[in-house]
Amino acid sequence: QEQETFTDKEPMTGEHRPSSAFNTPFWTTNSGAPVWNDDSALTVGTRGPILLEDYPLVEKIAGFTRERIPERIVHARGASAKGFFEVTHDITHLTCADFLRAPGVQTPVIVRFSTVIHERGSPETIRDPRGFAVKFYTREGNFDLVGNNFPVFFVRDAMKFPDVIHAFKPNPKSHIQENWRIMDFLSHHPESLHTFAFFYDDIGVPQDYRHMDGSGVHTFTLLNKAGQARYVKFHWRPTCGVKNLLEEEAIRVGGTNHSHATQDLYDSIAAGNYPEWKLFIQTMEPDHEDKLDFDPLDVTKTWPEDIFPLQPVGRLVLNKNIDNFFAENEMLAFNPAFVVPGVYYSDDKFLQGRIFAYGDTQRHRLGPNYLLLPANAPKCPHHNNHIDGAMNFLHRDEEIDYFPSRFDPVRHAEKHPLPPRILTGRRTRIKIEKEDNFKQAGDRYRTFAPDRQERFLCRIVDGLSDPRITHEIRSIWISYWSQADRSLGQKIASRLNVRPSY
Ligand code: HEM
Repeated sequence: QEQETFTDKEPMTGEHRPSSAFNTPFWTTNSGAPVWNDDSALTVGTRGPILLEDYPLVEKIAGFTRERIPERIVHARGASAKGFFEVTHDITHLTCADFLRAPGVQTPVIVRFSTVIHERGSPETIRDPRGFAVKFYTREGNFDLVGNNFPVFFVRDAMKFPDVIHAFKPNPKSHIQENWRIMDFLSHHPESLHTFAFFYDDIGVPQDYRHMDGSGVHTFTLLNKAGQARYVKFHWRPTCGVKNLLEEEAIRVGGTNHSHATQDLYDSIAAGNYPEWKLFIQTMEPDHEDKLDFDPLDVTKTWPEDIFPLQPVGRLVLNKNIDNFFAENEMLAFNPAFVVPGVYYSDDKFLQGRIFAYGDTQRHRLGPNYLLLPANAPKCPHHNNHIDGAMNFLHRDEEIDYFPSRFDPVRHAEKHPLPPRILTGRRTRIKIEKEDNFKQAGDRYRTFAPDRQERFLCRIVDGLSDPRITHEIRSIWISYWSQADRSLGQKIASRLNVRPSY
């Protein structure tokens, strides 16, 4: 029984296994040694005990026990797909970004959609913002537009991000998401009202990932060849339209398939029904900001489209499913710090915090050389000496690992423009001047049709009906919503003791 014969020892060529990392038809250890029995452990006699020298068993179990890496602290649940971005409109007067150099230019992309709060295996029907992260593999390095489906965020200072996430995450004692914690924390943050006007709206539960908008959320800066700077906001609009799940549908869909959005994305692409979004920008002359009654760099604000119209730029087409979920989703790493010449950050102090956070968490989550992994590495030539450390798997034979050197012809890249604005100011920890917390939330509510307003109201009342929410907290929320829209505030107040039913 122990005798095995190897009939086919010839390595299998790439032709036979075109999409696999492996090139032999027989089983081996990771070091390439043939394994003649992968069914039974090496034992003393037929029953055991197992010998410690059973290397194939030890390697197999040790690999298995390390199969998972830490999940993302936020956006753990996600699905990704690949495709391309194509420029459709010339914006070279606004930016010198090479990937936007002319209509028709295509750039390969990988996109990851996600929910924010819950774990890697959580249902995709929960009320939560959705992540919409796009990595453009440009000729000038990767540009990551790491956005959400809502165009605004709950708080505006990076110092508050861990708190808002903790408030939304499950209670550390019970491990249950509890409204009283969310309402308690955000009662200190009236700037959250505008984002609640998205969260409690129907779009709080998108039908799937294909039928939702995307937004870069923050204000970024575009720079043209002459060094002129304009503020910019990025927006994705799906060509198949925005669709949502109302409460009953979400319960039905989520109860049937907790991965329905991942499945919808995968199946649509496999069927050749490629999801597509148009990219639009809004631009603003930096001087214009003084004329506004809100701060355009404030991440809790949108820019009114009648003053700052949407300008078309290109289209995003997802026409290829990923080959491996672990390599192209779990080990995928986006970073809003990754910009390209012609696109820059703004002084938005929420965005500034993000510039630090992503690389930091990814060095912890994936290891210091995570940017060498195929999904994360640039597809253009690159060159530096920052790659020693765990898992530098590049073959290298250079003798020069310092810069500059007269023995190495590598030189600085060509200079590209930075925002010309002069930065001055005293060190301070302070709120922004133009908070304007209520107007845009009220404006948005007033655009809803009556049935949509009613559903919105029910969700607010439901959220505030948690018995652990105190009278004080409820009163604060009623006051906030009243300042956004007087009649909405009154309705919330009069309904609060009534449990709404949909
Ligand atoms: C993921 C931090 C604000 C969108 C993450 C991750 C961290 C993080 C640590 C996990 C990254 C990883 O493990 O690869 C922060 C901090 C923020 C902030 C500190 C504020 C100071 C935002 C905002 C947006 C956003 C405003 C929306 C524009 C995303 C998305 C992902 C993500 C889409 C998932 C990326 C992926 O699919 O891998 N964030 N975040 N974040 N964040 Fe943020």
